[in-house]
Amino acid sequence: MDPRDTAVLLPSSSGNHVVDGFFDCAEESAHYAFSVQLLLTQYATVVPWQTEGVAELGSGDAQAIARVVRAVPGLTVHGTDISPTSVARARQTIAGLGVDDRYTVELGDFFSWAESPAGGRTSTVIANPPYIPAPDADILMPELWGGWYGNDLVLRLLKAGFEHLLVALPSYSDPAATLAAAGEQGYRVANFLAMGLEFGAYSREPKVADHIARLTADGHGWAGGDSYVVAVALLTRATEVRRDRSTELLRALQLTV
Ligand SMILES: C[S@@+](CC[C@H](N)C(=O)[O-])C[C@H]1O[C@@H](n2cnc3c(N)ncnc32)[C@H](O)[C@@H]1O
Repeated sequence: MDPRDTAVLLPSSSGNHVVDGFFDCAEESAHYAFSVQLLLTQYATVVPWQTEGVAELGSGDAQAIARVVRAVPGLTVHGTDISPTSVARARQTIAGLGVDDRYTVELGDFFSWAESPAGGRTSTVIANPPYIPAPDADILMPELWGGWYGNDLVLRLLKAGFEHLLVALPSYSDPAATLAAAGEQGYRVANFLAMGLEFGAYSREPKVADHIARLTADGHGWAGGDSYVVAVALLTRATEVRRDRSTELLRALQLTV
């Protein structure tokens, strides 16, 4: 497929409401979908998605990746989500877009699936993971809690042994620590797409916004008022990728290196 053929048709903005039981932020999901599509097609000779498919941590309502599957012939995705409401909605979305032969979503913890035989046969994971930093999980949607610094799940993902990760990294969830851990695990940043976003309903919650203000003041990331940056990066252990764009990525996330 030609990487220029990246016209993912995404849903219009939802206005970023809080909806019970599933993640709803059309702008963020659109950036994730567009980035996954471009990085998969651009790096098709490095990432074996055409022969193996990919796994997804946290499919949400599947509005993002179902459109990518529809747009990219030959792409298969096996998603997991721990939220029953999300999984029910994801299955509706997938059936509605007619891609249920290539996109399945199961209810459960991604890391349990990763230890299963199917997980062992998969080398590529895509994820817009939970990344809300907060002192505890008592937030608007507890499934979005990413631990104290917001990067707990991506740190677990880095240790799970996959060869390629296409993962969203927000500027306020200690991305410098995340990329340092990625380097220690043998990953290089092949490339990334970054976009500025306003705090959504989940990061605007006072308990979360105050925590983000403290973390960023202490040097664990960046936010400018209610603005932050998210990058979707391809982290890979493939030896044919020689260039490591970690420094460029940190600068795109507004961190000085
Ligand atoms: C930020 S949302 C992303 C949803 C969707 N991929 C998107 O971008 O629109 C993160 C999702 O991860 C799910 N999740 C959280 N922890 C998980 C885990 N351990 N295993 C699988 N899914 C998880 C949440 O329920 C939530 O739906």
